[in-house]
Amino acid sequence: MGGRFFFRIRFHIAKFKEFTQLDKIIIQGGVSLSGEVHISGSKNAALPILVSSLLADGLNTYEKVPCLRDIDSIKQLLAHLGAKVEQDQNVVTIDASGLNNSVAPYDLVRKMRASILVLGPLVSRLGKARVSLPGGCAIGARPINIHLKGLEALGASIELKHGYVEATAKRLLGTDIYLDVPTVGGTENLMMAAVLAKGDTVLRNVAREPEIIALADTLNQMGADVQGAGTSVINIKGVKRLYPVSVPIIPDRIEAGTFMVAAALTKGDVRICRCDPDHMRAVINKLKQTGAQIDIERSSIRVRGAEIIKSADVKTLPYPGFPTDMQAQFMVLMALGDRVSLISENIFENRYIHVSELHRMGADIEISGNIAMVKGVKNLYGAPVMATDLRASASLILAGLIAKGETVVHRVYHLDRGYEAIEKKFALLNSKIERVSDS
Ligand code: EPZ
Repeated sequence: MGGRFFFRIRFHIAKFKEFTQLDKIIIQGGVSLSGEVHISGSKNAALPILVSSLLADGLNTYEKVPCLRDIDSIKQLLAHLGAKVEQDQNVVTIDASGLNNSVAPYDLVRKMRASILVLGPLVSRLGKARVSLPGGCAIGARPINIHLKGLEALGASIELKHGYVEATAKRLLGTDIYLDVPTVGGTENLMMAAVLAKGDTVLRNVAREPEIIALADTLNQMGADVQGAGTSVINIKGVKRLYPVSVPIIPDRIEAGTFMVAAALTKGDVRICRCDPDHMRAVINKLKQTGAQIDIERSSIRVRGAEIIKSADVKTLPYPGFPTDMQAQFMVLMALGDRVSLISENIFENRYIHVSELHRMGADIEISGNIAMVKGVKNLYGAPVMATDLRASASLILAGLIAKGETVVHRVYHLDRGYEAIEKKFALLNSKIERVSDS
């Protein structure tokens, strides 16, 4: 009985687990948060770094990896490709010496669209890859045209067949590529494709996120030659071989930002520990504009909420601008502002899903195109609400913390994709929050 049979069994067990994980989170609002919260490793840094293990033979060790559903998904995919993957709490080890499969199937890719990041490494190491197209998600179409255009520029031939990308290349050849959009995933895919290419590659108009720098640092520790990460131009000199590495994952700036907003929202006093304030200048600046008191220490930030939440406008932009992943959380703060706040979402075309649920809690928000006009109200009111995507779910938790009465957030498996034990962390900050099974 072949591997496919056992793969399907594993798939149905995973499906059952997903279905039974319809937990809900119950919050009694009105408590000011206080105390210290320790930030976990960054989901969006860990995902590409775990994938980079495909580029070398030998044992890689990654520390401070957050325990998340998205991390489980990428581990499952890497194991499916032939890597040996193990995790002990927040330490993950991966040995891709046994890499023997170039197909990333729909069942695995559909669960987590960042799976498309295996495309570049597979073509680079095996000369071919067949990866299911990730498709869109709740927040937008999420195309990968720039990933594919860049791989073609590096000499890969690309075909789209039956919902899959089929890429082949004898050997990738360094070239000069301009990205139409500073895509985070596209930058990561092309960096990982270029490090073993023949010759030099220049990537222009790339993403500048801290997660890009973290990936470049990891690749360089593996023996690559990647210069300029964090700026708009990255220069890569192709090398013959890469070697396994042992690295820690950087802190999650979006988790840290989420707790900063929670402290301001609840007029609390919270120290956000084990974060990197340098990664969060736009969020710090915006929160200061709303009146929160922010004290920056070396690897922590203290946030004290103000009596009056001042309304402030915000535009989401590529890093170092205000992050789109903080838009939903910031909207909850503005829902209790003293005036009107204009929020413009400029990265994704459908990232206001949380608004309808916030309406049910009494928020006064009007959407017109990519602009949300948020009129501050005196109170939000607890209600049963439904989580729909990762950051929208976080905004519902925040709304529940401040709402009068009880809020029940259903389908919290969305939260588990990107927040490690969020209800436990909020409980340690004095909030009245518990997680119960919804079945
Ligand atoms: C990464 O997604 C993050 N995910 C997202 O975080 C984050 O919101 C996003 O970057 C923007 O900062 C991970 O890192 C795993 P993009 P990614 O490619 O790489 C367009 C979260 O909540 N685009 O930078 O998929 C695209 O449509 C998640 O943690 C193209 O047009 O984002 C979008 O408008 C959500 N063609 C814009 O670029 C392409 O080929 C930014 O997308 C690729 C992207």
